[in-house]
Parts: sequence; C-alpha cells; structure tokens
Amino acid sequence: MIDDVAAGLLDARFEVREEEGFFALHGERALAEGARLLLGKATPCVGRDRELGMLRALFTESVEEGTAQATLVVAPPGVGKSRLAQEFLQELRARCEAVSIWIARADGLRAGSPLGMLE
Ligand SMILES: Nc1ncnc2c1ncn2[C@@H]1O[C@H](COP(=O)(O)OP(=O)(O)OP(=O)(O)O)[C@@H](O)[C@H]1O
Ligand SMILES: [Mg+2]
Repeated sequence: MIDDVAAGLLDARFEVREEEGFFALHGERALAEGARLLLGKATPCVGRDRELGMLRALFTESVEEGTAQATLVVAPPGVGKSRLAQEFLQELRARCEAVSIWIARADGLRAGSPLGMLE
C-alpha cells in the first residue's frame, strides 16, 4: 500500500493501481515496456523520424560490418528519450527475430564500478 505522494513519484516502470481510497504497488514492469499513459491511454508516436532513422542506420551498420556501436541519447526530462528507445526496440523485435535485447540500468551511487551493471 502506498500513498498518493509516493504513487506520483514512481515512474511508468511501476505498476500502480488505484484501489478503494489508496494506491497499491503491484510490481515493476519489464524495462522497455514502461510507456507513460496520457489520461490513462497509450498515445501514438509522433515525429522522431530523424532520430529513429539514425538508430536504424547504426544498427544496420553494426550488423553488416560486424562492429559494435554505441549511442547516447541525451535530452531534458520528459522530452521523449524512453519513448524513442521503446519505439526503436519495438521495431527491432518486429523486424528481426534473431536480435537479443539486453537492458541494464545504471545507478549514480555505483559510478566507480564500471562492470557493475553486468551483475
Ligand atoms: N514522439 C512522441 N510521440 C508521442 N508521445 C511521446 C513522444 N515522445 C514522448 N512522448 C510521450 O511523452 C511522455 C514523456 O516521454 P518519455 O517518458 O519518453 O520522456 P523521457 O525523456 O524519457 O523522460 P525522463 O527524463 O523523465 O525519463 C510520455 O508519455 C511519452 O509517451
Ligand atoms: Mg525516461
């Protein structure tokens, strides 16, 4: 059981349901599935063709040339970084069955342990 303040602080990764007079935390969703809802509804992705195109091109290059690629997505809070990742991963899953998607989440307190996310 959590109160409304705690419920408001949790992001879309957490499944929070409003019950009679309180909020109930039911668990954590898989990382890439935490799309935020707008007034309780999922919204279609608008724009981002350029960014998705860049990610697609890097992925194709990585596959064709057998090299590793890294992309850093940086933007102010709420601009759509998670949504971009989510759209891209959804497209990848649909497009190529052989792809294996691994997700790690960093923690500022463990900045000194570079391989910490692999645990
Ligand atoms: N291109 C888009 N089309 C439609 N909705 C979008 C788009 N980009 C973001 N949104 C919506 O805007 C909201 C905020 O986006 P998102 O959670 O991806 O931001 P963020 O940059 O990851 O934020 P934070 O820094 O807090 O993690 C979400 O509801 C998301 O679905
Ligand atoms: Mg985000």
